[in-house]
Parts: sequence; structure tokens; C-alpha cells
Amino acid sequence: MNIIFTYFHHRFLSKMKLFETIRATREHIDFLTNQHLTIGFVPTMGALHQGHLSLVQRAVQENNRVAVSIFVNPIQFNNPSDLENYPRNLEADLKLLEPLLSDDDFIFAPTVTEMYPKAETRLFDFGSIAEVMEGRYRPGHFNGVGVVVNKLLRIVEPAAAYFGEKDFQQLAIIRQLATMEQLPVKIIPCPIIREPDGLAMSSRNVRLTPDHRQAAPLIFQTLLDAAKRTGTDSPDQLKQYIGATLNQTKLLEVEYVEFSDEVTLESVQNWTTSRNIRCFIAVQAGDVRLIDNIRISVPAK
Ligand code: PAJ
Repeated sequence: MNIIFTYFHHRFLSKMKLFETIRATREHIDFLTNQHLTIGFVPTMGALHQGHLSLVQRAVQENNRVAVSIFVNPIQFNNPSDLENYPRNLEADLKLLEPLLSDDDFIFAPTVTEMYPKAETRLFDFGSIAEVMEGRYRPGHFNGVGVVVNKLLRIVEPAAAYFGEKDFQQLAIIRQLATMEQLPVKIIPCPIIREPDGLAMSSRNVRLTPDHRQAAPLIFQTLLDAAKRTGTDSPDQLKQYIGATLNQTKLLEVEYVEFSDEVTLESVQNWTTSRNIRCFIAVQAGDVRLIDNIRISVPAK
């Protein structure tokens, strides 16, 4: 099977392509690399929003051609109902990408059997960065991310791949994966895109009830507030403050809050332990799990 779809929007005649098979994708990539064109790659699980699109825009600026993958990767979901309820809307995603992508840019949207013709057994050892925070609360998650991103990077062979700091720990895992697997790709971090009220954009936000959606901006507000108090409060005091402030609403339940080194992701006990500290948080908002993080500037001593 070698299906190539060219997606036509009613207003523009873009020639961005949509591939469902690895074989069709590879043929197109051979066509591009024969012309010495570089590929910038943005892996996604679809249900696209401005956060994803900011990565695509950056990839468009920095590469000759751009590839976007849309694949809800079942093996990175530790919670079956999260996988079942994950928003999927390929038509809407194509409409959002169409104005950004041009001739010979492409979307790779494979089926689960295309990506996993047989049961996956590979186990990566990412070490301690995979054991803290998301790794601790979502067992198997980062292994599933590692497996799929490894496959995708080997299929697309991009010069550069773009990842959001929204999933900061994932970014660290991907860097480690590229080093371990000796993948010749530049990993490019991109800043978090937020709603006007501060809530970090996420595909899961559409699943928030109106009440939870209204409460959710408090997460980032509280992180901002805490970030201003490093001159007077210790990491432990701020963790307590953030936890108490958010849990007070009853609509939000903090799963973890950590101040950690940006590279090792090890928790810091005081502001002098590391020069590069970030605050990381995971919050349950009804049925929806939200994560966020913020860079902490430590007062000069
Ligand atoms: P997904 O959640 O769809 O995110 C795709 C990319 O968009 C990730 O690099 C993520 O960090 C980035 N992103 C999401 N929300 C963002 C925001 N508000 N601002 C900036 N970037 C944002 O992450 C995944 O998919 C998957 O784990 C994947 C890497 C595709 C592997 O399956």
C-alpha cells in the first residue's frame, strides 16, 4: 500500500501531503534528501493548538521542509481512560496546519498497527531523570514516549526536532534518547505557550468542565507568585504554599510540586544547590491531569 493524499483546503491549494504509511513517508523523504533539503520535525498526538503550532512555525523558519506527525501513542498512556478520552480530530488539525505548511511539507498520521506491527518489548534505561515527577506518577510513560520518538526519528531522519518546554521532563528524556541512540538530530526546546489567563495550552484542556477550566489559571498564577518569593522563602516553604493555595479551591488537587535542577531534575533543598532551577507541578482538575513548570530566578547572594 502506498497511499498519498494531498489535502486541499477550499481557499488555498496547498500541496502539503498526508501520509499514513511508513513506506509512502520514506519515499517522500528520499525525494527531499535527494535534493539536499533539510527536514524539521514536530512530533505530536494531534488535537492541535497554538502550542503545537508555535513549534511548527519555528520548524518552518529553520528548515527547508517540515514534517508533523500526528499519532496518539497508546503505549505512553498509563491510564486507559485517558487514552480512550484523548481528543482526536484529524480534519481540524489539517485545517490548522494548512496555512503554515507548503509544497512538499508533510504530515505523517499512521495507524497503531503501522507503528506497532507486533507487541513492543523494548525497555530504555533513562536513569534517574525518568524516575522522578512524571516518571514516578506515570509508570511506563517515558518508556512509551522513548519507543515512539525513537521510531519516528528513524523514519523521518530530521536535521532538527522541536519539543515544547511544557513537557520539560519529556524534553530531557528525548535529549537522553538522542544521545543513547546516537541519533543525528538537533533537539530544539521551545517555550510554553499559554492562554491569555496563563493556563498552559494543552490538548487535554478541552476536557475540563467549566468549573475546572475557571479554576485552572490559578496554577500558573501561584507558580508566578511563588517565583517572586525565593528571596524570603525556602523551596520547602514554597512547596507548602503552592500546595495549600491550590488545594484550597477544592477543584484542584496537587499531585506533586518540586523545585529541581533543570538538567539532572534532582530536587533542590535550598536555592544555592543549583544555578538553574525550575518549579514543576502536576495537578488533578477533576478527570483531567494538568502539568506546568516555570523557571526560577534565584536571588544573587
Ligand atoms: P503532544 O502532547 O501532542 O505535544 C506535542 C509537542 O507539543 C510536545 O513537544 C509538547 O511539549 C508541545 N506542546 C504541547 N503544549 C505546548 C504548549 N502549551 N507550549 C509549547 N509546546 C507545547 O508530547 C507529546 O505530544 C507526545 O509525548 C509525543 C512527543 C508526540 C510522543 O508521542
